[in-house]
Amino acid sequence: MECRFPVNSSLNLGLLSVVWEQKRQGQSESRDVYALHKGKALPPSQHHDYMGRAALLHDELKSGRAILQITSVKITDAGSYLCLIDYQGADYKYITLEVTASYRIINTQVMRKGDEAKFVFICQSEGFPLAEVFWQNEKNISLTGSANTTYMLTTDGLYNVTSILTFKPNMSENYSCIFWNKEVNEETSAHFSTLALLSTLYSGQKSLILFIIATCVIVTVLLSALIIFQQRKSFKKCHAKKKVHFTSDSGFFSYFFIFL
Ligand SMILES: *[C@@H]1O[C@H](CO)[C@@H](O)[C@H](O)[C@H]1NC(C)=O
Ligand SMILES: *[C@@H]1O[C@H](CO)[C@@H](O)[C@H](O)[C@H]1NC(C)=O
Ligand SMILES: *[C@@H]1O[C@H](CO)[C@@H](O)[C@H](O)[C@H]1NC(C)=O
Ligand SMILES: *[C@@H]1O[C@H](CO)[C@@H](O)[C@H](O)[C@H]1NC(C)=O
Ligand SMILES: *[C@@H]1O[C@H](CO)[C@@H](O)[C@H](O)[C@H]1NC(C)=O
Ligand SMILES: *[C@@H]1O[C@H](CO)[C@@H](O)[C@H](O)[C@H]1NC(C)=O
Repeated sequence: MECRFPVNSSLNLGLLSVVWEQKRQGQSESRDVYALHKGKALPPSQHHDYMGRAALLHDELKSGRAILQITSVKITDAGSYLCLIDYQGADYKYITLEVTASYRIINTQVMRKGDEAKFVFICQSEGFPLAEVFWQNEKNISLTGSANTTYMLTTDGLYNVTSILTFKPNMSENYSCIFWNKEVNEETSAHFSTLALLSTLYSGQKSLILFIIATCVIVTVLLSALIIFQQRKSFKKCHAKKKVHFTSDSGFFSYFFIFL
């Protein structure tokens, strides 16, 4: 933000005082953003929220420009800024700063709803001001009616918007959620491909298949062990009378079979 003041030939910095103050909408207290008193910065008066973020571009002063630079801009920086300049005569100006944040990154998630054929699609993003969320299929037919959109304010003053669409999808269609930031007329969107849906279905099936295989293996091993145990018992009965050391041989074979 810039305020201009008249400078003749060369600037006499020792005569210059510049004050920048911010006043937020609906708040009576103004906050000191930056102050230069007779050429020297006055950091103690600076509001802690602007520490390390607000600076006056000193190189520009010699050409009569008092430029306030704010970095890492936040939603709470919005408001009315007063610049007050004293350089052999004083003057002031108000500048209004508006801040918006686009819903740039949309986080998505798809889940199956219990064991129903319905799916839960979730889109979540942060921005400012409040966006409307629309859902549609690839033929641009609206599905917004089945969606539930809620929001919370984050500590940074952003809207954290979550939209949840619960419905039974057509597996041959792709779907999208659209965040419309009306104030800046900006649209961002995220897309759900049916491939992703099929993979959630497939991962469900995959664990089922793994479970079945594991069960089969365990049952097979138990059955083999049982059969071998039974055989060993009958073998023992037949041969116990003759030679004792046969038992240990058959024991070795049993373990060998289980191993196989
Ligand atoms: C600028 O010039 C005017 C007249 O030419 C003079 O009155 C004034 O003192 C000058 N200011 C500075 C800061 O030199
Ligand atoms: C859907 O809307 C988008 C943008 O508004 C447009 O580019 C696209 O052609 C539309 N598709 C259909 C099938 O109408
Ligand atoms: C939308 O979700 C919120 C919180 O999850 C819930 O309290 C509300 O009842 C839901 N509204 C509808 C219409 O489902
Ligand atoms: C936004 O909301 C979602 C879900 O309610 C939560 O998981 C996330 O942590 C929130 N993000 C921020 C920055 O508050
Ligand atoms: C699913 O989508 C395909 C292709 O868009 C369409 O031909 C079919 O009628 C749709 N089925 C249902 C049940 O909506
Ligand atoms: C759905 O999206 C995927 C990935 O973006 C794409 O490959 C596929 O062709 C889309 N399907 C339809 C029916 O448009």
